[in-house]
Amino acid sequence: MTTPDTLRYTRIHLAHGSGELPAVGFGTLIPDPVATKQATKAALETGFRHLDCAERYRNEEAVGDAIQEAFKAGTLQREELFVTTKLWNSNHRPERVKPAFDASRRRLQLDYVDCYLIHTPFAFQPGDEQDPRDEHGRVAYDPGVTLVETWRALERLVDGGHCKAIGLSDITLEKLREIVAAARIKPAVVQVESHPYLPEWDLLEFCREQGIVLQAFAALGHAMEPSVVGDPVIAAIAQRVHKTPAQVALAWAVQRGTAFLTTSTKPRRIQENFDISALPEDAMGEIRDRITTNVRFNAVVQTGVPGFIPRPSTN
Ligand SMILES: NC(=O)c1ccc[n+]([C@@H]2O[C@H](COP(=O)([O-])OP(=O)(O)OC[C@H]3O[C@@H](n4cnc5c(N)ncnc54)[C@H](OP(=O)(O)O)[C@@H]3O)[C@@H](O)[C@H]2O)c1
Repeated sequence: MTTPDTLRYTRIHLAHGSGELPAVGFGTLIPDPVATKQATKAALETGFRHLDCAERYRNEEAVGDAIQEAFKAGTLQREELFVTTKLWNSNHRPERVKPAFDASRRRLQLDYVDCYLIHTPFAFQPGDEQDPRDEHGRVAYDPGVTLVETWRALERLVDGGHCKAIGLSDITLEKLREIVAAARIKPAVVQVESHPYLPEWDLLEFCREQGIVLQAFAALGHAMEPSVVGDPVIAAIAQRVHKTPAQVALAWAVQRGTAFLTTSTKPRRIQENFDISALPEDAMGEIRDRITTNVRFNAVVQTGVPGFIPRPSTN
């Protein structure tokens, strides 16, 4: 008798904060709002129950519209859905945190947010300009606020009741240790780039010890070269288990205990990325031991400047 494969429905209990995070997540980093709404609708129809958003993506309203349509159609209940959004770098000053959070909630058309992340640990010059630069074109950082001060403001959001859990993104292990040590409410989630070419085992180990969920973005390597889905080890496993290379990389992410985020504007791929099945243990071992390529595709962790968001043209 075969047991039904339930990997795609995996939910991870949040040790710090309330709720359960669906391990299979859909990212909304899609530049065009019309495409964002269509892709979000397709993801919800497919079965994705975790949406990853950010004020920096400038499309929370389109995501909110897609969610509202599903609520109105009766195909989705609020309690089934997990929505993450993020505080942008230019809002790190504590007095800017709650207004930024409330603005995200308003755009998303939600009473509460399941998880609110500090998008990067880098504070930019406070203000409405998301990409502030000095006269030489260099990023204008804000030396007037520490990450711990911003974290305290997020803790107060949890106290306020409209935010169920808080976390960090694009953080190094060293900085995460500092926040964990100082926190009254520990991070529930840490979102970082991770895929078979950047497994982040040390960070994952620390997260496990601390009861923090590691959430992998660019779980398919953001379609960049060298190609994660073109990797020969992954391709050979895919052939053996009758799945696609993307499904192998995503199943690996869930089976090693992380949550993942993928993005696609194509319904066929959205479906493909949801239809994952458990891999045999030997395949898990092969991915760990036989893949030696090591690549970080997004330099955001070093600068706070997002690598996958095009800078607006100056004309
Ligand atoms: N915290 C951060 O700083 C940060 C940074 C980056 C991303 N994120 C979050 O993580 C989410 C996912 O990141 P990501 O967009 O880099 O994820 P990804 O899924 O690794 O990459 C998306 C790219 O892969 C392609 N793709 C999707 N499914 C595929 C499949 N089955 N086979 C082959 N190619 C496929 C997509 O193209 P098509 O659209 O043409 O299918 C798209 O170009 C983002 O939407 C965002 O929510 C967070």
